[in-house]
Amino acid sequence: MVKITSKTNDIIEKEAKYLSYTTRVPYFPLVVDKAKGVYVTDIEGNEFIDFLSSAAVLNTGHNHPKVEEVVIEQAHKFLHYTPAYMYHQPHTELAEKLIEITPGNFDKRVAFAISGSVAAEGAVKAAKAYTRRNHIVSFMRSYHGTTYGSLSVSGYSSQMRRNQGTLMPDVHFVPYPDNYRCSLNDTNSYCYQECLKHIRLLFETVVSPEEVAAIIFEPVQGDGGILVPEVEFFNELHKICAKHGILMIADEVQTGFGRTGKLFASERYDFVPDIIALGKAIASGMPLSAIVARAEIMESWGAPQFMFNTAGNVLSCRAALATIEIIEEENLVANAVTIGDYMINRFNHMKDKYECIGDVRGLGLLIGLDIVKDRSTKERDIEKTKKICWRSWETGLILAFFSSSVLRICPPLIITLEQAEHALDIIESAISDVEKGRVSDDVLQSIKGW
Ligand SMILES: Cc1ncc(COP(=O)(O)O)c(C=O)c1O
Repeated sequence: MVKITSKTNDIIEKEAKYLSYTTRVPYFPLVVDKAKGVYVTDIEGNEFIDFLSSAAVLNTGHNHPKVEEVVIEQAHKFLHYTPAYMYHQPHTELAEKLIEITPGNFDKRVAFAISGSVAAEGAVKAAKAYTRRNHIVSFMRSYHGTTYGSLSVSGYSSQMRRNQGTLMPDVHFVPYPDNYRCSLNDTNSYCYQECLKHIRLLFETVVSPEEVAAIIFEPVQGDGGILVPEVEFFNELHKICAKHGILMIADEVQTGFGRTGKLFASERYDFVPDIIALGKAIASGMPLSAIVARAEIMESWGAPQFMFNTAGNVLSCRAALATIEIIEEENLVANAVTIGDYMINRFNHMKDKYECIGDVRGLGLLIGLDIVKDRSTKERDIEKTKKICWRSWETGLILAFFSSSVLRICPPLIITLEQAEHALDIIESAISDVEKGRVSDDVLQSIKGW
């Protein structure tokens, strides 16, 4: 069991005094001291396996030696000069590399930013500039970020939009296929077809498709609870979009860089997205995001429509080049498939044993366990979900949840089978402890999550 002293509690109390609550969703009192590979050590000396990867950022693990080396080497040369005014080699090299590895054998251009929110927002701006249309279609439960534009196209929760008044106009939300809890039919069968009908109805009754600039989507809806639609859904949707000149924006901020067992989750489809937003894992934790899109789209808007002083920072670009090399050299995409398949299999065995596991779903190492009160009603068991995460932390595993009841399984892609087995043992005993009522209700005061 982890041990926490006043060392940790003092920092947390101090933080509550100085930091805005808007910046944090509390899980457990873990103050990071150091991290390496799949492990995080807190300031008390407790060690944890990391099944969160800083929210799908650390695909190459913590402090991969190669990333560490290039960042330190670069830090001795120069820390920053804005690429908006001057050139630097890693910036150009990274743009070239992203064009090479992202889907689409056509002329592309790249623009860098700092966070995923800004990349998603920029993708929308580029689509509007190119098509000269205003309307955008997005999905309920989608998470694209918290800046004004990215929030406007996010349908994650009403809480995140509260008291913001009118956001960006002309955004239309449609349901995302959910094969477990389809909001459009009771049987969950062919949920994606119901969603397509809904989109057709939108175009027939609310907005003409000729006025729609783009549809923005997550190839796997991440924060919405790891929803994996059938490939037919997006293939069919693409046909509708192609007919009406609507651009497809894939938000790969969470799914990119090997997370789902493909370098990019969009590779599952028969079409190539017109614009791809990248972030999170791109630079192994150094701040960076990017938009990669067809050249003609990116040439349709001029400076300074997407220009930020610290975007394309040289340390971040070096870290990103190293990240891509590591993913290729260490076959991390294949590892995501191997370990991910193993985990899904083992979670399904757990599902046979524990009634509270309503559903196991995911791709690669982006896996969700839906915790329910009753398998027939599928009512979310928010308290049990929180308690499972809490007990996992107490026994050496960083495990978070989202969408209230979905355990979020996203370890670094470098994880070995042995490490994965150990982590799954921790999760299994946490579930068993919670089922047996061995985790007190008191913990619910501390763990809030999202
Ligand atoms: C799909 C997706 N897009 C955009 C974002 C926003 O990224 P950031 O928090 O770096 O702004 C996230 C973050 O969770 C995300 O999951």
